[in-house]
Amino acid sequence: MDAATQRRWGDQMFALLAANTTQMADDEYVQPVADYIDPAHARRERDLLFRRTPLIVAAADELAKPGEFRTVDIDGISAVIVRQDDGSLKAFHNVCRHRGCRVVEAECGTARTFTCKFHSWVYGGDGALRHVPMAEGFAGIDRAQRGLVSLPVVEKHGLVWLIPTAGMAMDIDTFLGPMNQVLADLKIPGAAVFRFERFPEKLNWKLVVDTFLELYHLPYLHTKTVGRFIEGKGALNEQFGPHSRFIAPRKSFLPALKDIPADQRNVADHTVIIHRVFPNAVVVWQRDHVEFWTAVPDGDDPNRCMVRLWLLSPDKVVGEEDRLRWEKNWDIVRGTVHAEDFPMARTIQQGFSSGAQDHVIFGRNELGLHEFHRSLKEALAAA
Ligand code: FES
Ligand SMILES: [Fe+2]
Repeated sequence: MDAATQRRWGDQMFALLAANTTQMADDEYVQPVADYIDPAHARRERDLLFRRTPLIVAAADELAKPGEFRTVDIDGISAVIVRQDDGSLKAFHNVCRHRGCRVVEAECGTARTFTCKFHSWVYGGDGALRHVPMAEGFAGIDRAQRGLVSLPVVEKHGLVWLIPTAGMAMDIDTFLGPMNQVLADLKIPGAAVFRFERFPEKLNWKLVVDTFLELYHLPYLHTKTVGRFIEGKGALNEQFGPHSRFIAPRKSFLPALKDIPADQRNVADHTVIIHRVFPNAVVVWQRDHVEFWTAVPDGDDPNRCMVRLWLLSPDKVVGEEDRLRWEKNWDIVRGTVHAEDFPMARTIQQGFSSGAQDHVIFGRNELGLHEFHRSLKEALAAA
């Protein structure tokens, strides 16, 4: 993190903590409940956000070597992403060109070819159709036109980004805009996936992202977990187009920095930085490592989503002596969210459907939520 940014953060956070407050929006934000439960709204989000936007679907480390592949499902689209011999990535609809079966069932692995289980058509890692049993039955087809259907994919900042619609242009630099530099500063390329987990949740996908966007709940819901390490105030929000960054002070912030001259403080070391990447990803910087989350709608039911979590360690190989430390990191991140945030969020989802109210309120102190929901509203309105 550059010195000017650290200086700016330090000054602002000291002022907020001294005033026992956090950064405020001008007004409260009224958020309609329907956006979390209305099937028509969910379909609109699917068509306009989850079919047209570059989405983070993997860590590049998971597909490091030629032949390594990963499948991903995004609200009804199954895709397979494959590392090519020249080091590039290709992605395809995971749909057989004979009669439409899912070709690759495994979540990840290494393969030179993919064979459809139904009638054994064989595709190369480059998507080309390689073999058709009883070929005389298909003498009239042009095999060159029967490869797996390509999807736009790109590797950037150590992450794999996919647009699950064939033929769409992938312009990741324009999409990220000023967020490009912010993500580059995280130095993810070269990091290794220590653990990955995927689990269905009975939540609208937005509630998963909401979980990360305010500190207000930390001293209450997380008294015994992350609330012990992170302040419930003093946070800064910075917006980068539809994306944002949320900088939260650790409990070590004041004791460690209060006697250090403002221009010499290593502010970042005493923060957690939450990067919200539009529309559905959260990349959390934790000093010595990064973890990232995505949430995608799961079918037509707005009350369900699929959550994915990756924990990256900066070192390629985690030695035995370090393993315990990383297991502990994994337990903290999973424990807090699974045991505290998501159970709370499930009651929210249920409460939304109860008819109790047609809106909820984001306080002036919950600025990250304002930014997230405003970015969605603007994207849906512009489309
Ligand atoms: S559907 Fe795949 S080989 Fe027939
Ligand atoms: Fe939380």
